[in-house]
Amino acid sequence: MGICDGRVVIITGAARGLGREYALGFAAEGAHVVLNDLGGAADRKAAEALAEEIKGSGGKAVTNHDDIADWDGAGRLIRAGLDAFGALHAVVNNAGILRIFPFEEEPLENWDRTIQVHLRCDHQAADGDFRVRNAQVLMARTIAMPQDPTSR
Ligand SMILES: NC(=O)c1ccc[n+]([C@@H]2O[C@H](COP(=O)([O-])OP(=O)(O)OC[C@H]3O[C@@H](n4cnc5c(N)ncnc54)[C@H](O)[C@@H]3O)[C@@H](O)[C@H]2O)c1
Repeated sequence: MGICDGRVVIITGAARGLGREYALGFAAEGAHVVLNDLGGAADRKAAEALAEEIKGSGGKAVTNHDDIADWDGAGRLIRAGLDAFGALHAVVNNAGILRIFPFEEEPLENWDRTIQVHLRCDHQAADGDFRVRNAQVLMARTIAMPQDPTSR
């Protein structure tokens, strides 16, 4: 018996780093996990391997490789959870990109992409199916992190 038995939890950016650890932790407590990672081929492979690892330990896991910064992609992720497990209870908003520059040197396209990935999907996660289903949204991501505030 775990404290998350039968709960369905989406973890974004689950292929590696903190996301992987959140996924293992929720699965160990009995949650059915939806492992999202956009990443490249290596991250996709890592997400698939993590799903197999969890299933090998008696858990339930599926993968999804949509971009959570894209409205349609986030929608497909939510549907993937519903299709696989018939419910949604929580999302761990972990996926992020840290491209660290001194603030004044950061290329605008980096800034825009970071805002898109780090903020837009929070709105998406708090909207639509999640809101209707009253799912818990756990924010586990940096909002903004200049490398060295004294460098401004
Ligand atoms: N590691 C730290 O010390 C630290 C400290 C503070 C905050 N954070 C935040 O915690 C989160 C996880 O950190 P980490 O070090 O494990 O990161 P990481 O770079 O190791 O992993 C992030 C994962 O998110 C995925 N991802 C990125 N954009 C995506 C998108 N649009 N859609 C789906 N997946 C996407 C990547 O492919 C990657 O596998 C990040 O948001 C980061 O900003 C990390």
